[in-house]
Amino acid sequence: MIIAIDGPAASGKGTIARRLAEAFGLPHLDTGLLYRATARAVLDGGGDINDLAAAVSAARGLGLMDFDETKLRGKDMGEAASIVASMPAVRAVLVDAQRSFAGRQSGAVLDGRDIGTVICPRADAKIFVVADAEVRAQRRSLELRKRGEAADYDAVLADIRRRDERDLGRSTAPLKLAADAVVLDTTKLDIEGAVSAAVALVMAKTPAAPLNRQAGQG
Ligand code: C5P
Repeated sequence: MIIAIDGPAASGKGTIARRLAEAFGLPHLDTGLLYRATARAVLDGGGDINDLAAAVSAARGLGLMDFDETKLRGKDMGEAASIVASMPAVRAVLVDAQRSFAGRQSGAVLDGRDIGTVICPRADAKIFVVADAEVRAQRRSLELRKRGEAADYDAVLADIRRRDERDLGRSTAPLKLAADAVVLDTTKLDIEGAVSAAVALVMAKTPAAPLNRQAGQG
């Protein structure tokens, strides 16, 4: 079973994807990390984030599993990731690794922006997670503060809006609702409510899927 989760920044899609993976006993790939790691490699190498050749070469040099998440989760890296992610040549380099992860015999959960539309168009269940920008900015500010980063709400909201615009407006693999995806609006939901709703959506699509109830609810 392949579960595709897409949505904008801080919509809750990462947590939902992780918890669905636990609930259904599937491996999980947060595809945003690929773009974040690509951006990080460009910047660590002293390159310009807008330099296409540097970004393509950084994407080619990535291993799928060697992500140091603490270095990749920061606010600046989200912005830089969305810049390299708008380059079609960078996306082309990263497609195969994502598809081969999804093609594992066990099945998989992937989350990102183009999973249901480009990476796994035949996924068994597709969820498009949304939430109001203001609520997403609140969540992201909290998360950044927990990491010890300064987080000015207005700046975080502006960052989220800028990223939404770039992700929705790019010509290749924009953030877009797949025709067969179900929308899950988490604006008024807490994490447990969002996870339960997502589990129910997956079960509705694939009633035979083995569910580890404890993980799904825990
Ligand atoms: O999901 P996350 O916020 O970590 O993603 C960082 C950036 O990577 C996004 O703003 C988006 O531009 C890009 N991305 C993408 N396609 C994906 C996953 C992430 O373009 N499948």
